[in-house]
Amino acid sequence: METIRIAATTKFTSEMEKLRRTGFHNSSSETSSSDEFDTLSIHVLAIIRDEIIGMIRLTLEPPSVLQTWSGWKAPIPHGEGVIDVTRGIVAKQWRGFDIYKLLMTETMIKAKALNAKIAVAPIEPHFQHRTFLSHIGFQNVGEPLIFNHPPIGDTVGQCLVQRLQKDFGKVTEVRAKIISGERMKNFRVVSTIELR
Ligand SMILES: CC(C)(COP(=O)(O)OP(=O)(O)OC[C@H]1O[C@@H](n2cnc3c(N)ncnc32)[C@H](O)[C@@H]1OP(=O)(O)O)[C@@H](O)C(=O)NCCC(=O)NCCS
Repeated sequence: METIRIAATTKFTSEMEKLRRTGFHNSSSETSSSDEFDTLSIHVLAIIRDEIIGMIRLTLEPPSVLQTWSGWKAPIPHGEGVIDVTRGIVAKQWRGFDIYKLLMTETMIKAKALNAKIAVAPIEPHFQHRTFLSHIGFQNVGEPLIFNHPPIGDTVGQCLVQRLQKDFGKVTEVRAKIISGERMKNFRVVSTIELR
């Protein structure tokens, strides 16, 4: 049985930078995966045996990550009360155990605890987890557009919006199903994210 710890931090370390750089399929090994938002954000981490094996970034606005990446063309709310959910990653050897799904539910719980009202996120239009994201309340807004985010560069992304208060019940329900599910049966989940 593996213990998977979920925790949030404002520190962005070289270990986290490496996980992201090596996990994104098209980022070169020489170019840093860090950007100006990393030190302004909260990172929700999945940790196994003291190693960070997954993370998702939360950036409370201002600044707006999605508006910066889209050149202010994203058709979504921005400003106070909005939180950007970006840079989700799970280490290759730990994929397929529902760790991303668990981390997303924990991330939404953390976003609500930070008093954000609306979460916004970009996904690639054919992202494999779009149905899962709809189950926790994320809805498409507008048509896909170009996001320019270093070091990857131009990517077509679909904007998603979630109402943290209204969709909280869905998040906790899905989280409970993931933890008791078949793919997590060999994991014990210990979370320091506040469930309120
Ligand atoms: C996208 C990503 C975060 C998903 O992480 P993950 O922890 O493997 O996802 P989960 O285990 O929660 O999801 C399980 C899904 O992965 C599939 N899967 C199973 N084994 C897998 C494996 N070895 N590798 C990848 N996916 C696998 C399952 O079929 C399942 O799909 P389903 O729920 O439709 O049946 C991960 O693939 C990743 O880091 N990719 C690179 C970065 C990226 O694209 N991030 C998205 C930014 S929005």
